[in-house]
Amino acid sequence: MSTNYAYFEGRIVPASEAKVSISTHALQYGTGCFEGIRAYWNPGRNELYVLKLREHMRRMSYNMRLLRIALPETVERMCEIVVELLRQNEARQNTYIRPFAYKSAPYIGLKLTGLEDRLAIYTLGMGDYLDVEKGLSVCVSSWVRPDDNSIPPRGKLTGSYVNACIASDEAKTNGYDEALELSSDGHVSEGSSSNLFVVRNGTLITSPVSANILEGITRAAIFELASDMGIPSETRAIDRTELYVADEMFLCGTGVQLAPITSVDRRPVGDGKPGPISLKLQQAYFAAASGEVEKYRHWLTPVYGSR
Ligand SMILES: Cc1ncc(COP(=O)(O)O)c(C=O)c1O
Repeated sequence: MSTNYAYFEGRIVPASEAKVSISTHALQYGTGCFEGIRAYWNPGRNELYVLKLREHMRRMSYNMRLLRIALPETVERMCEIVVELLRQNEARQNTYIRPFAYKSAPYIGLKLTGLEDRLAIYTLGMGDYLDVEKGLSVCVSSWVRPDDNSIPPRGKLTGSYVNACIASDEAKTNGYDEALELSSDGHVSEGSSSNLFVVRNGTLITSPVSANILEGITRAAIFELASDMGIPSETRAIDRTELYVADEMFLCGTGVQLAPITSVDRRPVGDGKPGPISLKLQQAYFAAASGEVEKYRHWLTPVYGSR
């Protein structure tokens, strides 16, 4: 079996050597921020395309400011490292890339400055995270999304994913595929690890960035596709009851991709089948992400050098 490599402490090393101490600050206190990036293998073109690489690295560099993380690696350098790592791992399948910027110092105590900051990046083969065909059964979680002035979900901070894990675990334990979370003001926020779109009367509706959501890169891509396809979209607060009267709903995110929802709290969404607007957008998203559409080729970074 070929060696899997990771970027760790400034170098690409065998992944088995990329290990942190048990007293690492980020491990104790959740003081890290991360990204999830996908690369799609296109067998026809014999190419691996990293989707929105620069956008993810730019977002992580902004989010690092929340934790006062300063890395020597620039956004450009982080993008180069991802490409080098994928080449070294000879990735020729759909692949997930996980960059992680964190407080690495072995330190007991609550502070953000005066600690060492580090970057780690690893990759793994990944298919669908949630089913994208049959339609998901979701629930409104009994857990509430943390507020921006509590643990900011915008930051993609490792510590804030405790909330996502609890909500998702509760949903799965109760027989659902995924959880939708409300904010403390009762409006719809997002899925545990994805943004939510609702379709009403032919219009796409999604919660604003002030609804304690992650400012999703896929969400932005969906806006672009919808605009190009002439589908109107609105960004506004969504009431819980709108979930029960929606014609269609779907989750979107790097991991989730675009996954139609067919029931919420055991109530069918629309006619209980994946809706036509969701399916149209899904088809367009997968075609763009895998490099089949010239118009969206600028979303992609080819790993092996094709255009
Ligand atoms: C909480 C949360 N919301 C939304 C998203 C979607 O963000 P993106 O489309 O940038 O992957 C994610 C990650 O995939 C997430 O973890």
